Amino acid sequence: MSASTIPLTERPAWKALAAHHQTIHGTHLRELFAADPKRGERLTAEAAGIFLDYSKNRITDETVKLLIQLAEESGLKDRAAAMFRGDKINITENRAVLHVALRAPKGSSIIVDGVDVVPQVHDVLDRMSEFANRVRSGEWKGYTGKPIRNVVNIGIGGSDLGPVMAYEALKHYSKRELTFRFVSNVDGTDFHEATRDLDPEETLVIVSSKTFTTQETMTNAHTARTWALHTLKHQAAIARHFVAVSTNAAEVTKFGIDTANMFGFWDWVGGRYSMDSAIGLSTMLAVGPEGFREMLAGFHEMDEHFRTAPLGQNLPVLMALLNIWYTNFFDAATVAVLPYDQYLKRFPAYLQQLTMESNGKSVTLDGQSVSYQTAPIYWGEPGTNGQHSFYQLIHQGTKLIPCDFLAFAKSLNPLGRHHDLLMANVFAQAEALAFGKTAEQVKAEGVASPLIPHKTFEGNRPSNTLLMDKLTPAIVGKLVALYEHSVFVQGVIWNIDSFDQWGVELGKVLAQKIAPELEGEAEPALAHDSSTNNLIRRYRGRK
Ligand code: F6P
Repeated sequence: MSASTIPLTERPAWKALAAHHQTIHGTHLRELFAADPKRGERLTAEAAGIFLDYSKNRITDETVKLLIQLAEESGLKDRAAAMFRGDKINITENRAVLHVALRAPKGSSIIVDGVDVVPQVHDVLDRMSEFANRVRSGEWKGYTGKPIRNVVNIGIGGSDLGPVMAYEALKHYSKRELTFRFVSNVDGTDFHEATRDLDPEETLVIVSSKTFTTQETMTNAHTARTWALHTLKHQAAIARHFVAVSTNAAEVTKFGIDTANMFGFWDWVGGRYSMDSAIGLSTMLAVGPEGFREMLAGFHEMDEHFRTAPLGQNLPVLMALLNIWYTNFFDAATVAVLPYDQYLKRFPAYLQQLTMESNGKSVTLDGQSVSYQTAPIYWGEPGTNGQHSFYQLIHQGTKLIPCDFLAFAKSLNPLGRHHDLLMANVFAQAEALAFGKTAEQVKAEGVASPLIPHKTFEGNRPSNTLLMDKLTPAIVGKLVALYEHSVFVQGVIWNIDSFDQWGVELGKVLAQKIAPELEGEAEPALAHDSSTNNLIRRYRGRK
């Protein structure tokens, strides 16, 4: 039996970690720091311009050693090699998982089903670049001869969250003369509010959908076509105002978009791993082909780090192992991602799909129910806003919530004291969470006895701090790749398929069944449960 086929909880490192947890879970970070004055410098790692301070975690050197042993016993190196090689590691869909090929440099080679995919990737990038340059320069005109001033990306899930996150993250570098809007929800309000002040004559619609069959996206795309034709009148206008990003040329043609205006990608790119494929067309329109390639270079640098760095200095591996430690041994149910940069305001939402759609699974690769927890819930808001909202619970609540703090040495918008204050807050939060404030300290401040328990901070609340120089396209690529690979490592250890998403299917199928029951004139014969039947009847009676 090879190591990775031994069930997780029977691997020697897992058992050793369980025993080790018993010995250290009562140890306070105050003690760990007191025992090792260099801990804050020692328990750090740096790569690709990202400095990771993981010293404020409830770990010792022994913990790290055992976690690395667990990664080894789980066959991490082989599984990572298989991914980079293009093996079909998405077993339930029989697909390769090759988002790393999207940022492979020209001249490198990755073979899938006998075909080198890297030249294909660069062909699409070149076509996207040519198109983006034409739109950005004003050379690409709308049907009535006006230049494009607005770009509306229609997509959902991976065809929305990555583009929105990247647009917001890189706004500083974007062409400000262009207005960008993102429509995802099937709620008509989303489309209405995104387009109400736009002139169709000056608007380019990107229909982004890997499958080109997603109900929300196709509904919005049809509404967008009606909206555009209301002003532009002629079918021929669609070719100047609509482009598609998809793997499904047949459906794109059926919708009425010329495949000359289609930018393709491949089934080996998962939706939540696609922001650096043609799905990033809106990003390229915003920051230009150069900026987009800088972002890809950032992704690739992190890929290379992940592929080659020893496990103990490997940022995605360390972050993944810490998540395993808290999820599986401390029963932590969530991870808070707290970017101290306003431009990263959509990063937590982006990470939610990446982490939870990937690892929200409860059966192993061979279909057995897992006997351990898998993906934690990811959530977060940019600092300092969260501090005045939910941080109370992180500091003094009953739940253990490991935090990832993301911070930058330089602001893109230096303004008086703002950045120093922002950074003072991020350092202060990590310090307060780790070390807290004892009842003795509170008492020594002269606080009246009844208030002492309320003002005591237990501390011992773990966090990572990721410190970077400044937010650039390359850093966005590096950060995303860091979390992508961290998700991969966790999936390997949990022995689950991180690249399928069957859990979203049932709701989709039921919605297809319910839609006609809501729309038809005649009272339908309902065969749902009594609750669903009743809700449908009430809705029909009131709509
Ligand atoms: O329903 C989930 C999902 O398949 C995601 O994985 C994907 O990112 C999203 O829907 C959108 O899919 P598509 O790009 O095919 O429209």
